Amino acid sequence: MTDETDGPPCGRGPRPGHRKVFGRRKGKRLSAFQQGLIETDLPVLSVPGVFPSGHPDRRPVEPSDLFARGEGGSRPLWLEVGFGGGEHLVHQARENPHVALIGCEPYMNGVAMLLNRLHGSGIGNVRLHPDDARDLIELLPDRSLERVFLLYPDPWPKKRHAERRFAGPENLKRLARVMRPGAVLRLATDIEQYVSHALAAVADSEFFDVEPPVAPDWSVPWADWPGTRYEAKALKAGRRPHYLTFVRSGQDY
Ligand SMILES: C[S@@+](CC[C@H](N)C(=O)[O-])C[C@H]1O[C@@H](n2cnc3c(N)ncnc32)[C@H](O)[C@@H]1O
Repeated sequence: MTDETDGPPCGRGPRPGHRKVFGRRKGKRLSAFQQGLIETDLPVLSVPGVFPSGHPDRRPVEPSDLFARGEGGSRPLWLEVGFGGGEHLVHQARENPHVALIGCEPYMNGVAMLLNRLHGSGIGNVRLHPDDARDLIELLPDRSLERVFLLYPDPWPKKRHAERRFAGPENLKRLARVMRPGAVLRLATDIEQYVSHALAAVADSEFFDVEPPVAPDWSVPWADWPGTRYEAKALKAGRRPHYLTFVRSGQDY
């Protein structure tokens, strides 16, 4: 049993009866407009066939079926795990129209915020999985991803919850299969223990190398970094962001 005090500082408890990594699916009641977007826009933008293992309708994801081909062939595919309110995802989609982006987020209020940002925006290169990113990753083809964003993942600060942190050995292995050699995994976190936890997991993995930091304390953001809603709260609370980049090595999976 876990209560709110055990949960991530996003202020959400884990989803009962599910793998305990992410927070609750619903927060504040959705407005009628948001509920409308969930009913009309979400089915159009969702990646079909993504279900937990054992579900009868689960099927492999073929990215080229989701996105129109770019000039010169299929588009580079990027993934954001836990997009929160979607501000970073929308920024990247707008700045990189040649890229195809998939965002995963189980928190329905966040999904509704992203749908609101996308609605009528003209942005056509985003698809969603409104649930656990692990289910989507397991269904992606080998070497299909060129970039992965893990921005302020739930920190699970208690030692006894460390295995729930997303940047651990199991998920690095899942990502290693679907990331091309040279593909980049960006991790932002405001929690010191998360930095050491992720660096240790990467040091133990044969599939990733750490890109040397611009400053030794990992405090310099990426050049195209727009910030996120969670980051703004962390800064206000006096916590310090860290920006880490891991590169998929050439090691065969
Ligand atoms: C601390 S919030 C940060 C949100 C956003 N990236 C930001 O910086 O504002 C972490 C988010 O990760 C989501 N999350 C946690 N586990 C996840 C998983 N397995 N798959 C997808 N999203 C997940 C949570 O629902 C939550 O919205």
